[in-house]
Amino acid sequence: MQELKNAIRERGKVLSNDVLKVDTFLNHQIDTELMALVGKEFAARFKNDGITKVLTIESSGIAPSFMAATELQAPLIFARKKKSLTLTDNLLVSTVYSFTKQESNDISVSKDFIQGGDRVLIIDDFLANGQAAFGLIEIVEQAGASVAGIGIVIEKSFQEGRKNLDDAGYRVESLARLHDLNEGKITFVDELVSSHS
Ligand code: G4P
Repeated sequence: MQELKNAIRERGKVLSNDVLKVDTFLNHQIDTELMALVGKEFAARFKNDGITKVLTIESSGIAPSFMAATELQAPLIFARKKKSLTLTDNLLVSTVYSFTKQESNDISVSKDFIQGGDRVLIIDDFLANGQAAFGLIEIVEQAGASVAGIGIVIEKSFQEGRKNLDDAGYRVESLARLHDLNEGKITFVDELVSSHS
């Protein structure tokens, strides 16, 4: 998605060979016009898949999934990372390990919001090792619902997540795929393919 790639190039900051900072439009300040385009692109890619629910994880997944859910006319549910005062039982729970933070966290969704028969589109901001995506998949499957696909805003193709999701047979639609961030430079997967062809 060209507008997104432009934003990554012009407003992203490479912090290391592994980490891209995009808090001017995605992770802290949110560019609402860009997020609307992102949501529309997800919706276009999944419009024929009978999506009944969109599922994301707080906090940075919420903005890009909001417009997708609006366009698909489906409710948006976000998995919680912290226990809620009012949400204490009747929960679907899975454990997500973050390699970046080296800690495990339980994520949860009320059983009231995903049920057998639902076709769920999972959306998240980053795909790194895929732990968050697999945690969300586990929640959908615990509910007896099916995963229609996984929509990712920025995929770091040099980490394991994409390969592991492909190997497990899930459809992944990433709007920008980073081949690498080496030497402070952003290289997208599709540019690399075209520059060699
Ligand atoms: P994984 O789920 O794919 O295995 O990712 P990982 O544990 O490595 O990532 C933990 C957190 O770091 C996630 O956000 C993820 O979105 C974010 N993250 C991973 N790589 C990058 C990166 O290169 N740049 C940025 N900006 N973020 C990255 P989180 O802790 O859940 O945060 P939030 O959703 O509350 O903002």
